[in-house]
Amino acid sequence: MRLKDKVCIITGSANGIGLAAAKKFATEGAVVVVCDLRADAVAKAVDELVSSGATAVGYVVDVSARDTVDAMVAAVLARFGRIDVLVNNAGITKDARLLKMTEVQWDAVINVNLKGVFNCTQAVAETMLAQGSGSIINTSSVTGIYGNFGQGNYAASKAGIVGLTKTWARELGPKGVRVNTVVPGTVATQILDTIPKDVLAQIEKGCWMKRIGRPEELANVYAFLASDEASYVNGATLEVSGGVSL
Ligand code: NAI
Repeated sequence: MRLKDKVCIITGSANGIGLAAAKKFATEGAVVVVCDLRADAVAKAVDELVSSGATAVGYVVDVSARDTVDAMVAAVLARFGRIDVLVNNAGITKDARLLKMTEVQWDAVINVNLKGVFNCTQAVAETMLAQGSGSIINTSSVTGIYGNFGQGNYAASKAGIVGLTKTWARELGPKGVRVNTVVPGTVATQILDTIPKDVLAQIEKGCWMKRIGRPEELANVYAFLASDEASYVNGATLEVSGGVSL
């Protein structure tokens, strides 16, 4: 068990890649902290984890609202006394081309995808530094590396994550806290609901594995980076996309 008794906070873990990660981390022996927006979805995920034998707790957190993040971190520390892993996985899209993008769309995506990562990381950093150990995993996107039509706000947020990761890897690495970015390609979750079927078919064709990814395939990479097997991996940008960018 690669994550035995490690206290692991995973944001956006009521659905999609985050939920797959919560399940994977549980099978690796972690204490899983589910964080997401809706109480019913959080409760459902925690129930599922606990009934499979895992130790899991859930909190309703909006990563863009610092007070909810701080309350969750305080509660986790009060209950478990440490935080070993933070997966900054929560993310949203609000797509529009440059000339059509509203300020509301811009702010929503930057606030969740970029400020949310800052909020959660700052909230756990002191604890990890005091422990002298920790692993922070930030979720970017191939859109953040290569851009994508109609996704300026999302691309900016996901490119920003790569810069934050490299900065924090320098700041926290010397004290034993590793910070890395995972860069998913297209993965089968609800975030794709707004993408037309013909566009998805094109994406599959353009990927060198001729298919989109499964949430579990990202969860496996999160688990590796969270574990001590990745003890010398710091500041990395790890693309998990089936080779879509080749
Ligand atoms: P999803 O939509 O299935 O799950 C995201 C979860 O985040 C949801 O449960 C949602 O309620 C939660 N969430 C949204 N805003 C939140 C907030 N303010 N505070 C707390 N939780 C919030 O999405 P998916 O596909 O699992 O995405 C996970 C991460 O992977 C995201 O950061 C996304 O940008 C990234 N990603 C996903 C790709 C894909 O094709 N599915 C491709 C590239 C990156």
